[in-house]
Amino acid sequence: MGALSRKHFLDLEFAPKEDLQKIIDTAYTFKDVLDRPIKKVPSLTGKNVVNLFFENSTRTRMSFELAEKRLSSDVTNFSASSSSLSKGESLKDTIQNIHAMKMDAVVMRHPTPGSVYQLTKFVDAVVINAGDGTHEHPTQGMLDMISIHEKFNGLEGVKVGIIGDILHSRVALSNIFGLIKMGAEITLCGPPHLIPVNVEELGVNVTYDVDELIEWADVINVLRIQRERMGLGLIPSIREYRHHFGITNERLTNHKKEIVVMHPGPMNRGVEIDSNVADSEQAIILNQVLNGVAVRMSILYLLLSPGEEN
Ligand code: CP
Repeated sequence: MGALSRKHFLDLEFAPKEDLQKIIDTAYTFKDVLDRPIKKVPSLTGKNVVNLFFENSTRTRMSFELAEKRLSSDVTNFSASSSSLSKGESLKDTIQNIHAMKMDAVVMRHPTPGSVYQLTKFVDAVVINAGDGTHEHPTQGMLDMISIHEKFNGLEGVKVGIIGDILHSRVALSNIFGLIKMGAEITLCGPPHLIPVNVEELGVNVTYDVDELIEWADVINVLRIQRERMGLGLIPSIREYRHHFGITNERLTNHKKEIVVMHPGPMNRGVEIDSNVADSEQAIILNQVLNGVAVRMSILYLLLSPGEEN
């Protein structure tokens, strides 16, 4: 058992607040490491980590690999498209083979919600959720939280707006669970049919008016409009979406206050966010990426570091 109260890192819904605070505090020390000329520490020397990606990823995959290497662990990468899964092998057999190779940690992204919980039944290793379908993306939630924490010197009482396709967003769900636990306030905004029914029961507010959201918020987290869903007719047109919900410079400057703008990536410039906003001083999007490496180092270290006991 590592220094967190749970063996695995699967969600923010059930993670204790103390664990989230410990991850944030430790991530700050790793941010200092990332500023050094030699950005590597020996903390996980001799540990084996495998990155199992059954879905595409740029940021999360690279960020985990970099975090693992910065901690000196041995890293194995697995992608579904180049594996024996494409020859008909079952997921269970693939995972049991990985188990037989005595991995210490498995980082998994998978399109099926809850798949990470199943994985814990087949392996002894620590399991870290790198995004399971529309369920959660807890390490993204943590990197978003530390980015807000850094900007506002804490999370208590910070007003966070989350805008976009909330219904299908694992990023939104992890943000909601994590930020509410840490004392932030949340308002969701998006087309009514892309906001889950009864979502207020999670302790959030809802508005369908983006200008109202901007007037209220200290920071907004702008979600990707998933173009692959356009075929399902969920959004009439990109132009209409941008008109009602797009974060444009004009819209932001109409309000007399400056708010912080975040985006988990990948961005659709000119759809949910305009380029001049994404590249502006008020956007902390690339800082989120840097914080992603530090927070993943923190999680791996706290779960795997020898001698760290409760
Ligand atoms: N934010 C995020 O999860 O990006 P990737 O899909 O590129 O990993």
